[in-house]
Amino acid sequence: MADEALLRITAPIRTERLVLRTLTPEDLDDVFGYAGRDDVIRYLPWPKRTRDEVAEHLARRLNTTLAADGDVIVLGIELPPSLDGASPEGASPDDAPADDACARPRIIGDLTLVLTSIEHRQATVGWVLNPQFQGKGYAAEAASRVLTLAFDELGSHRVVAELDPRNTASASLCTRLGMRLEGHFVHSGIVEGEWADLAVYAILDVEWNARNALDG
Ligand SMILES: CC(C)(COP(=O)(O)OP(=O)(O)OC[C@H]1O[C@@H](n2cnc3c(N)ncnc32)[C@H](O)[C@@H]1OP(=O)(O)O)[C@@H](O)C(=O)NCCC(=O)NCCS
Repeated sequence: MADEALLRITAPIRTERLVLRTLTPEDLDDVFGYAGRDDVIRYLPWPKRTRDEVAEHLARRLNTTLAADGDVIVLGIELPPSLDGASPEGASPDDAPADDACARPRIIGDLTLVLTSIEHRQATVGWVLNPQFQGKGYAAEAASRVLTLAFDELGSHRVVAELDPRNTASASLCTRLGMRLEGHFVHSGIVEGEWADLAVYAILDVEWNARNALDG
């Protein structure tokens, strides 16, 4: 049967400061470093996971193709050692790992791209960043590249981000990327036994292209 993948990640993707690549089981320490933190999962529909549970979850997030509705690709955000705590752009030296972890690139977060509908050319994005590396524009830089991937390579017409409206950092990131608030749904679901609201942000291909034409 012919290869019908609409998007296949075959090599790391470089941005100005970062490298985006599919995750591997060897990334467990880095991924647990953020996915196991209460402050990271606070507004995510993720349970608090042990290291073993993060390993199990990671093993289900290694897909490299989008071919059918519901397919998901997760791209790890890799930070070159030169920016990992030691350089003026990195975290403070107090935050740097004590061992020789700085000698290798570190996964500081990840981005999720979901093919929600082939027929309607819809996709969803999500993002998570280790708090040690927030506030440096890394999430915006990586998410911007993933939006380009969604529009230019996957052929999406509309890309959506769904979030808890109390998650102001994520809402700011949406706005920074040019995504519009399309709706605030009140008590749209139950999260941890309590009614929770949902904010939906989105951007169309024409809006993304117009924005990039202005930037260029
Ligand atoms: C949502 C999340 C990824 C945003 O991370 P972030 O680092 O704040 O996002 P950005 O990459 O857009 O960085 C923006 C900040 O970096 C600052 N910045 C510093 N250097 C910068 C640079 N070179 N370029 C751009 N921004 C820069 C900006 O001024 C801004 O600071 P501010 O928040 O004080 O205004 C992060 O808060 C997170 O992982 N949260 C937990 C997980 C989560 O809730 N995910 C979303 C679920 S919907």
